Amino acid sequence: MASSTLTALSDQPALQPSFIRDEDERPKIPYNHFSDEVPIISLAGIDDVAGGRRAEICRKIVEACEDWGIFQVVDHGVDLDLISEMTRLAREFFALPAEEKLRFDMSGGKKGGFIVSSHLKGEVVKDWREIVTYFSYPIRNRDYTRWPDKPEGWAARTVEYSEKLMGLACKLLEVLSEAMGLEKEALTKACVDMDQKIVVNFYPKCLQPDLTLGLKRHTDPGTITLLLQDQVGGLQATKDGGKSWITVRPVPGAFVVNLGDHGHYLSNGRFKNADHQAVVNSNTSRLSIATFQNPAPEAIVYPLKVREGEKPILENPITFSEMYQIKMSRDLELARLKKQAQ
Ligand code: SIN
Ligand code: FE2
Repeated sequence: MASSTLTALSDQPALQPSFIRDEDERPKIPYNHFSDEVPIISLAGIDDVAGGRRAEICRKIVEACEDWGIFQVVDHGVDLDLISEMTRLAREFFALPAEEKLRFDMSGGKKGGFIVSSHLKGEVVKDWREIVTYFSYPIRNRDYTRWPDKPEGWAARTVEYSEKLMGLACKLLEVLSEAMGLEKEALTKACVDMDQKIVVNFYPKCLQPDLTLGLKRHTDPGTITLLLQDQVGGLQATKDGGKSWITVRPVPGAFVVNLGDHGHYLSNGRFKNADHQAVVNSNTSRLSIATFQNPAPEAIVYPLKVREGEKPILENPITFSEMYQIKMSRDLELARLKKQAQ
């Protein structure tokens, strides 16, 4: 790439060939053609067991996981000032000169920091995004030297944010565990020592957004993801078994909740792993903060509950790190076969 950051490329009228997707992968609908189909669920009263409000909220969450694997939560208890501070600080980071961002360059295998995403995994076509990654849980894995020290206060806010989001994720996993007829802690226990990774995505504006993607189509590998997005729009999810796309309407202060592959397998496929992507646009940049709640690498991936009349969707128990390896090599193999067929 001519530049080590995308921000420097965002005013160039012609997209560099390395960002141009095959036609079948390009966006099908615009970034701001919003849909309201993905459920929006208020968590107000989720702890009110006696009053019956909890049962109603749980029913909505379970239905959303069965139908979509993606939904939005509001009244989630995470302070809205903390949310807007996280967004402001992240925007300020990405606006820094390239050399400042590259002080935290994580290419070359460093754990955490800044990268232009497409340098990851040796993929052929690049995503139109810059990211900062924090490995936030377990706490012993935190390497604060890899946490950007600019803008001032971002690292401290991230500590606060990661703790609040760990709490919210565990609360949602309790609901899903109970829905499977298991003890509340079943899904968190199955994660062993739950990992949390925060990925802050910055998608610069792009003058040819129809040819590229901010983040290519995927399902998240982990248990559950909480995504905070600004009001620009660009997150798209599939419906009708992957046949069509919708753009998720941004809701101020809401988190988009995605079930990942681990959550899908542990529920024996009852809860969907949301198939999604991020598109970009020529008007403005976009920011999102994804918090991935993942099992420990050695955690066992296998259905916790197989309902009557069903068969386990996995042949054998595997570890999460094996599951991840299989997923990655399958993706690369599919990309290779596609290239061959062209
Ligand atoms: C993600 O899937 O991790 C991010 C999606 C988005 O930025 O909307
Ligand atoms: Fe994702």
